[in-house]
Amino acid sequence: MSPELELATHAAREAGALLREHFESDLTVDEMQAHDIKLALDVESQKLIEGLILERFPDHAIYGEEGLAGDQSSETQWIVDPIDGTVNFFYGIPHFCISIAMRQGGELKIGAIYDPMMDEMFAVDFEGPATRNGKPISPSNRSELKDAIITVGFSKSKESIEVGAKRYKDFAYRVRKTRMMGSAALALAYISCGRLDAYIEEMISIWDIAAGQLMLERGGGSVVLTPSPFGEDKSGIVSNNGKLSFEGLV
Ligand code: IPD
Ligand code: CA
Ligand code: CA
Repeated sequence: MSPELELATHAAREAGALLREHFESDLTVDEMQAHDIKLALDVESQKLIEGLILERFPDHAIYGEEGLAGDQSSETQWIVDPIDGTVNFFYGIPHFCISIAMRQGGELKIGAIYDPMMDEMFAVDFEGPATRNGKPISPSNRSELKDAIITVGFSKSKESIEVGAKRYKDFAYRVRKTRMMGSAALALAYISCGRLDAYIEEMISIWDIAAGQLMLERGGGSVVLTPSPFGEDKSGIVSNNGKLSFEGLV
């Protein structure tokens, strides 16, 4: 394992231990919005991860959901989502993760997604297949929509929910099942290992999907990002196992 991936997985595990410790306990809410919640723990988890990365690589840049740190002019940038699935976490639903990716010169190089409740570490290094708890994984071979399970995310704005809801309905008639699980990063990790076949959302941020995108693409999956009309620096994502066709649907 490269030293960078070792660091990413270590930081994700440390943050995971912090989240496990606070799961189903009294939580400090920093912000409560119509379709989102921000916890003090989001910031605490990012600070922990940031500290571990910058201790090792003080000249690198951190680009996290909870803010920037380090030298922003650095070629090497760590993209951090300290809790992906905060709403699940807050409601006591044990499906959330920590996502850490690293890119150099704008190109994704490594990624780690850790689910602390399942103790599952999804990882992808500079080369080689993505892994789950150290074992190689690959996306499913399902090529027909009728056999597929698709997961959909509804983002945080009214407009994006409207578009997402229509798409959801279009897909729901065509696939075996739909799932809405509440963590973009785990959705991509689950497609990378064949549990799910596709994931679509209208408005996501780079920290939600960077690690998962690299993982899925490494296994031959497809990830298409398009600039989102719903928010600055946001994208729409259409991703699948690389075998399904969405012609006429997206
Ligand atoms: C959210 C989750 C959710 C997705 C949202 C994301 P957060 O991330 O990934 O599944 O639907 O678009 O923002 O806020 O829990 O880090
Ligand atoms: Ca997120
Ligand atoms: Ca988050």
